[in-house]
Amino acid sequence: MDLLKWDQNISLNNDFIDNQHKELFKIVNKLVANCNVNYDYKIIQNIIYELFEYTNNHFKEEERLLEERNYPHLEIHITEHAGFIKKLNDINVKLNKSKDKKTAKELLVFVKNWLLEHTSKYDLDYKNYI
Ligand SMILES: [Fe+2]
Ligand SMILES: [Fe+2]
Repeated sequence: MDLLKWDQNISLNNDFIDNQHKELFKIVNKLVANCNVNYDYKIIQNIIYELFEYTNNHFKEEERLLEERNYPHLEIHITEHAGFIKKLNDINVKLNKSKDKKTAKELLVFVKNWLLEHTSKYDLDYKNYI
């Protein structure tokens, strides 16, 4: 499975948010690397926990910033974030039961696709408001 690559196309010209996105990509890449070789459920679970923590924090800070700047599509954005957390949680519940690599990969494919789509579409949409 390929690693995620952050590039200038998804830059928001805001170091605070850009650095958080880079860090998120890094955490996801840790998952990719650990799924590619020597699958260990405990290690994967630790990284998923880190992903939950970091994402929750990032979403909160992003939403606070967008509210401050009166971003007009804030409600849709909040719904997108909440949908991600819910789906991530659902697949993680499944993984906690099966503990298998197949479900870990399912979670990873979802996270990668969501993150790429969200940062290049939904996050880019607020670029001119921050
Ligand atoms: Fe976002
Ligand atoms: Fe974001």
